[in-house]
Amino acid sequence: METIFSGIQPSGIPTIGNYIGAMKQFVALQNQYTCYFCIVDEHAITVPQDPQKLRQQIRGLAALYLAVGLDPKKATIFIQSEVSAHAEAAWIIQCNTTIGELERMTQFKDKSQKNGRTGVSAGLLTYPPLMVGDIILYNANLVPVGDDQKQHLELTRDFVERFNKRYAQKNQEILVMPEVKIPEQGGRVMSLQDPTSKMSKSDSNPKGFISMLDEPAVIRKKIKSAVTDSTGIIEYDPENKPGISNLLSIFSAVTERSIDELVTAYEGKGYGDFKGDLAEAVVALLAPIQERYNQLLNSDELDDILDNGAEQARLVANKTLQRMKNAVGLGRKKRR
Ligand code: AMP
Ligand code: TRP
Repeated sequence: METIFSGIQPSGIPTIGNYIGAMKQFVALQNQYTCYFCIVDEHAITVPQDPQKLRQQIRGLAALYLAVGLDPKKATIFIQSEVSAHAEAAWIIQCNTTIGELERMTQFKDKSQKNGRTGVSAGLLTYPPLMVGDIILYNANLVPVGDDQKQHLELTRDFVERFNKRYAQKNQEILVMPEVKIPEQGGRVMSLQDPTSKMSKSDSNPKGFISMLDEPAVIRKKIKSAVTDSTGIIEYDPENKPGISNLLSIFSAVTERSIDELVTAYEGKGYGDFKGDLAEAVVALLAPIQERYNQLLNSDELDDILDNGAEQARLVANKTLQRMKNAVGLGRKKRR
């Protein structure tokens, strides 16, 4: 069976962008693949975090993974910092990656341009190698992510090729080459307030995103105030009508109705009707998730699942890490 790895940062409350771009795929894929779904807390500290809040968010994200339907019997669910191989692998990977490659990453360029090079941590630059480590430690063949992670996956593939070439003995491959998997619809959910930029959980304007824990009244209000245009015609044209196109794509993802079907259903109707129905669809999706989330959040069940997950993850990750150390020549001798 092929293997999947993916992760989400506990850097805030996940949005429906995270759900549509990532979590929804995770749930669908857990039946067909050996899956590892990680709460990547070491990634979250590349930008300043309040320690107490971070802990809550880590637990909250774990509860959400389960609440959306991830099943610990089918998938290994765990917290990155509880498996020390991640930080160790990241070091070896950094030493086999150039600064030039990392400075080309658009996410780093965006954030360091905004805050200046002295205003961002070194970790923000070296974060992609940590992500490379996450993926390769589990020998993942497939990585389901949103569109914004494409470049990091390309870096991962370049790294695997280079590492295998540089250190291979008798043409034996050390690391598995992963592929990216981006959803056909909803790989890039846009902000409700600025449909030309990505919906983000760290947006300073909360009207731009729907959090997975927003209450129904808040969801209705945010969708009602979503930016559209003045034509009043419901059609899918992301270039000229990014607002309504984004809403169509969200509607399609949360109801499994195709965009064409929705466009036909709303022919001749106004944005008000459309937004009202979309809000109800989002509320209907999130209500049962939120209920299960609240049951799980402070449960011992959640701790047991995460303890088991970390244990299972360590077994696989430590093996790959040892293969990497052997290849590079670390330690006194090769180990199994
Ligand atoms: P992050 O919140 O940055 O940790 O992202 C976790 C996962 O959600 C990654 O696979 C992202 O690509 C995905 N994701 C985040 N924001 C969006 C969005 N607005 N649309 C689609 N996918 C997203
Ligand atoms: N960097 C990803 C993001 O910001 C999260 C992530 C970390 C990830 N490690 C990963 C995603 C490994 C997929 C695979 O969204």
